[in-house]
Amino acid sequence: MIRHICVGMVLTLLINTEGTFCLNPPQDVKIVRSNLQWKPPDDDDSLLYSLQYKPSSKTGDEWYNVTSHNGTQLRFQITPEFYGAVFRVRTEKGINVSEWQYSDSVKCANTNSCVPVLKLSVKPEMAYVTMAHMDKSLEREYGENVAFNLSFWKVNNGGYSKAEFVITKSKNEHIFKLESGENYCFQVQYLLFEKPYGNVSNQICAIIPETPETIKSRALLYSILTSFLVTAICGVCIFLLFKHHKKAKQLFQPLRLEIPHHYQEFFRSGEFPLQACPSPSRQSLQSYDMITVIGYSHLKQKGQEEEQEKSF
Ligand SMILES: *[C@@H]1O[C@H](CO)[C@@H](O)[C@H](O)[C@H]1NC(C)=O
Ligand SMILES: *[C@@H]1O[C@H](CO)[C@@H](O)[C@H](O)[C@H]1NC(C)=O
Ligand SMILES: *[C@@H]1O[C@H](CO)[C@@H](O)[C@H](O)[C@H]1NC(C)=O
Ligand SMILES: *[C@@H]1O[C@H](CO)[C@@H](O)[C@H](O)[C@H]1NC(C)=O
Ligand SMILES: *[C@@H]1O[C@H](CO)[C@@H](O)[C@H](O)[C@H]1NC(C)=O
Repeated sequence: MIRHICVGMVLTLLINTEGTFCLNPPQDVKIVRSNLQWKPPDDDDSLLYSLQYKPSSKTGDEWYNVTSHNGTQLRFQITPEFYGAVFRVRTEKGINVSEWQYSDSVKCANTNSCVPVLKLSVKPEMAYVTMAHMDKSLEREYGENVAFNLSFWKVNNGGYSKAEFVITKSKNEHIFKLESGENYCFQVQYLLFEKPYGNVSNQICAIIPETPETIKSRALLYSILTSFLVTAICGVCIFLLFKHHKKAKQLFQPLRLEIPHHYQEFFRSGEFPLQACPSPSRQSLQSYDMITVIGYSHLKQKGQEEEQEKSF
């Protein structure tokens, strides 16, 4: 046992701090499973203990009281919210206090709330899952008795398929024979001695991609379907046209205009400079038939007007 020297007295006199380190500090501060425990100093057992913790998220020298702690107790039950925290404990008697004694930080082996860190990558028809420990404590403490319970299920239209699970000690797991284009969700939980330990991880979901062959064959199917559809539509159109051939003819009847005799003579005589025009190909002439006809009718109308003018 270390004899404690009452250096604090001098310090108090000089800078007037809260108390003096006149007491002996607690002994053997350690975390066993999920308990923080310590022993009283050899020479005194009518002491109070004050317990503080620093959360893992805080880097500065900020310490918080553990409010539920009973002043004379020599142990403290560590609950999940203390994961990663460091504790410190000291003895107190009146204004006299001891130095702080520090514990190790709280690890997975100390709180039943750890989850393996799950990562997922997907390839056609398969998923590749990696699981990492939040810290090394479980492996160190339980070695081969640590396993992962990886479960996965298919989600579609808001429904779930029955979950399948894989118990594995490996941190890398391939899951084969998944359905392409389907959404799968994964989660994992620790098993210690084949019993669930800690919390269940968040779910990670991903859509399993399709193989290039599937994409190709689907594209092929679509193009076949499209061409079939186009052919079918054309066939129907041709059939309808054929069937209602006469009707169609009647429909276009009003456009077949009789060109007055003297105009026909006029065009035939060659006085009209038709030949001078750059003669378009036969095909384009045919396709412009309508326009030609309209032109004629316009001509005809004009002709009539001229005739009327002459008659005045
Ligand atoms: C912790 O508790 C002590 C006495 O019980 C008090 O003096 C101190 O201010 C408290 N500290 C915090 C950070 O609440
Ligand atoms: C603290 O513990 C003692 C004995 O273990 C008990 O008698 C006392 O009621 C406790 N006090 C509180 C505040 O829990
Ligand atoms: C605090 O320590 C001093 C020096 O050892 C001692 O004289 C005093 O009685 C102690 N006070 C209490 C409340 O124990
Ligand atoms: C593994 O997890 C699944 C789903 O969470 C559960 O149904 C199953 O009982 C677990 N297996 C073991 C061995 O705990
Ligand atoms: C783990 O589970 C416990 C109880 O089942 C819950 O109180 C706690 O909030 C959970 N922790 C996390 C990080 O989800």
